[in-house]
Amino acid sequence: MDKILEFKNVNAGYGKEQILNNLSFYVEKGQVFGIIGPNGSGKTTMFNTLLGQIKPSAGTILFDGADITRASANARCRMGLGRTFQVPRPFESMSLYENVLTAAVHGGSQSEHAARDTALECLKMAGLYDKRESRAGELTLLERKRLEIARALGTRPTLLLLDEVAAGLTELEVAEMMELVAQLKANHYTIIWIEHIIETMVGSTDYLMCMAQGSCAVQGKPRSVIESKEVQRLYLGVDDDE
Ligand SMILES: Nc1ncnc2c1ncn2[C@@H]1O[C@H](COP(=O)(O)OP(=O)(O)OP(=O)(O)O)[C@@H](O)[C@H]1O
Ligand SMILES: [Mg+2]
Repeated sequence: MDKILEFKNVNAGYGKEQILNNLSFYVEKGQVFGIIGPNGSGKTTMFNTLLGQIKPSAGTILFDGADITRASANARCRMGLGRTFQVPRPFESMSLYENVLTAAVHGGSQSEHAARDTALECLKMAGLYDKRESRAGELTLLERKRLEIARALGTRPTLLLLDEVAAGLTELEVAEMMELVAQLKANHYTIIWIEHIIETMVGSTDYLMCMAQGSCAVQGKPRSVIESKEVQRLYLGVDDDE
């Protein structure tokens, strides 16, 4: 087994408010690792902590064998962490190509020449190549989500962090997103995917963690996690005696 990421007993939060409580889990190379959990359970906060936007008050974060607990956000990006944002934040008036190019130059530390090829490749991978000259502001929601992924890929990550990239999409569009994630996995990316849609998580992930109150409540094979009493109670609002 080859771990790419490990959280060991991590506490972190905003100011005095602690959100992550003794959070421990690990992700294996090549996995699609899913995360579910009620609103406010700390899923996005885990990404913020992993990316270095929040400093843990306790615990250790290991990435690719290195202790990154105190590393800067820039260093983490250079080491291979790339994320999408829950609310897409493209540069609206720039073309898709320019958006991804910017990510490749600034996040991927590439020369502009090399970044051009990277940007085109990432647009292809995200299914946006034909739209590369469109303005980001003209996109449908699915295309905006695809652009978020293309921008994250532009920084040349090995571990890709997806925060609710299927939220708000129609059933058909969700199926397209699942297809895209399957392609990324086939291209050897390791992926952590936060999403509320249960069937999507069961269909797309190799391993699933349910968070509650900043900790790991249940983890394991996706189907067994979803069917566990703890998740039924915590996440789906089903009581034991129902
Ligand atoms: N920038 C912030 N400053 C202060 N508190 C925050 C901030 N961002 C989130 N929180 C608080 O941290 C807690 C966890 O929020 P987080 O966004 O990590 O939840 P989440 O699991 O991603 O939820 P959701 O499913 O709604 O996206 C919440 O109580 C939230 O109000
Ligand atoms: Mg969130």
